[in-house]
Amino acid sequence: MKIDIITVLPELLESPFAHSILKRAKEKGLLEVNIHNLRKWALNEYGQIDDYQYGGGAGMVMMPEPLANAIEHLAKETKYDEVIFMTPDGELFNQKMANALSLKENLLIICGHYKGIDDRIREHFVTKEISVGDYVLSGGELAAAIVTDAIGRLIPGVLNNETSALFDSFQDNLLAPPVYTRPADFRNWKVPEILLSGDPKKIDEWRNEQSLQRTAERRPDLLDDK
Ligand code: ADE
Repeated sequence: MKIDIITVLPELLESPFAHSILKRAKEKGLLEVNIHNLRKWALNEYGQIDDYQYGGGAGMVMMPEPLANAIEHLAKETKYDEVIFMTPDGELFNQKMANALSLKENLLIICGHYKGIDDRIREHFVTKEISVGDYVLSGGELAAAIVTDAIGRLIPGVLNNETSALFDSFQDNLLAPPVYTRPADFRNWKVPEILLSGDPKKIDEWRNEQSLQRTAERRPDLLDDK
């Protein structure tokens, strides 16, 4: 899978994909992430990519021309399955969306800044708008990193058996059960006996119960969707 990201702050996206699972995905050739600096398509020598908004009001808006030129330039090389705009008024991101996007070949993600992007870009180029939560970030970069990370780890072959996504929280609309490691007794706080029993069937049952209980307590809304 290839993910191209258009941003005015490429520095913000250098580190998130350089470590751990996503780094391994890139090394295995399963994921390619390319960061494109929008200023390459700026209108003038000052690197202008934003301007005042029509109708007045505080805050700058990202101009249509640099964005259209960037998208068209990249789309000459790659047929994108989705052109995604990160925005707080987009569809709320969740595991189901991550699963669906992880099956795509090529994604283009546009990070907004300032007051947003000229709406004509959303109308004519963008095919999907994603929000990572009901709060406003200073730009779309951290949101794009979240989406890329959640998608990247689901690409077949990226995770091995040990880190398999099958048992992640949300995969079943259930939260994951509690986990423990050594020592079995830490400050007299004991690991649940059943996990030391060596009985895989009982352990599975216990984990399922714990998942259900946690979900009912913390996220009962997830159970409505089951
Ligand atoms: N840009 C700013 N806030 C955002 C959010 N919550 N989700 C996606 N992109 C954003």
